[in-house]
Amino acid sequence: MAIVGSGPGCLDNEPGFVDSFDVVVRISNFKLTPETGGRCDVFYSFFGDSIRKSVADLRRAGVTLCMCKCPDAHAIQSRWHEERRRMKGVDFRYIYERRRDWWFCDTYVPDTATFLEKFDLLGGHVPTTGFAAVLDILDCDPAHVYLTGFDFFRSGIHNVDERWTFRNADDPIAHDPERELQWLRGQALRLPITFDKRLNWIMQHGDIPPPVSIDAFMARAVEIGGEGIFRRSALKVADGAQHIEHILRGGRRHIVEIGTFRGVSTAFFARFAPRVTTIDLRHGQVERMYPNHNRRAFWSGMGANNIDMHLVRNEQQKVDLIAGLDFDFAFVDGDHRMPQVKHDFDAVKRCGTVLFHDFDPEHPNGVTEFVKTLPTNEVEVMGIFALWRGRYGR
Ligand SMILES: C[S@@+](CC[C@H](N)C(=O)[O-])C[C@H]1O[C@@H](n2cnc3c(N)ncnc32)[C@H](O)[C@@H]1O
Repeated sequence: MAIVGSGPGCLDNEPGFVDSFDVVVRISNFKLTPETGGRCDVFYSFFGDSIRKSVADLRRAGVTLCMCKCPDAHAIQSRWHEERRRMKGVDFRYIYERRRDWWFCDTYVPDTATFLEKFDLLGGHVPTTGFAAVLDILDCDPAHVYLTGFDFFRSGIHNVDERWTFRNADDPIAHDPERELQWLRGQALRLPITFDKRLNWIMQHGDIPPPVSIDAFMARAVEIGGEGIFRRSALKVADGAQHIEHILRGGRRHIVEIGTFRGVSTAFFARFAPRVTTIDLRHGQVERMYPNHNRRAFWSGMGANNIDMHLVRNEQQKVDLIAGLDFDFAFVDGDHRMPQVKHDFDAVKRCGTVLFHDFDPEHPNGVTEFVKTLPTNEVEVMGIFALWRGRYGR
């Protein structure tokens, strides 16, 4: 069977591949394209207000079985929902009242106990419709399931090509895609299940964004941040991205960056380590130059969900923060005056490998001045970067 979720990964299939499965299950507002396929045998949905498929749409696609995520019941007791009069999140009877005359083929509706098993499996979080579909289909004991169009919302896209935003962050039973992914990771080896390219990557590499060429990275950054996005970024000048890619090609565990600015180099570092910590000042250059720039939105658009950002009040806070981190690569690109460069270097040098930006003997600055104090056999100059590999490493 193939289960086609609503993430953009379903667009990466070869035409004809999804339709070659014995049974094709599609979810909610699915879209039929040459890549996602043209057939739908089983339609799985929560059947709430946002579901736009009509009976005619589903008949045309070949649906002969509908499967509902929610029971026809007030399934979850939640004071949060009662106080806010958001009963649709816990009492699903409205769905069945509204659709009383809608059903047109055999339809599976779970009982409350079956639904709550999924809820409990996720530690008291309502499963996303896609994940509920996976669990319900696996319960049917299939010989093999191919999952496509699942990225646990890392792409920030649903309905194949529409923006998805996480709402109700304070809802205690809200969807928790991370838990769903953790469950799948833990169970994958004992399940008869295979994944599409993007999901395979996520299963193996977690939050590291999937590999794209430098050109594709640059084009995407401009698409999200506008033409000027590379201004003052280490990636812009003198093949910056190529040098960083060369240095980090083997991957790292945890990269620490000092000097986030608009987060462009941060997004690039995020491709090479499961974790990136980036540090800037609470009222740094971005606040002064681009007060409307939203770094987190930029990273999310770049598919980089593995970044922790800290905006520090002062140098001591920065030093204390770094002292508590376990990392194996540092990028120093903050205050370029000599004493500050030395100060940042001293804070990060125990990781053993430090990359400096703006090393420029032709136009000497604090970075150049400081790097020249390091033993020359420990420093490699690459364009405008200086890479220090030293004896402080563990
Ligand atoms: C050249 S920009 C960084 C560019 C970014 N690394 C890139 O390549 O896209 C320098 C950044 O360092 C920050 N900065 C300045 N002094 C700092 C300090 N003492 N500690 C941390 N960051 C600092 C500035 O606010 C500014 O955002």
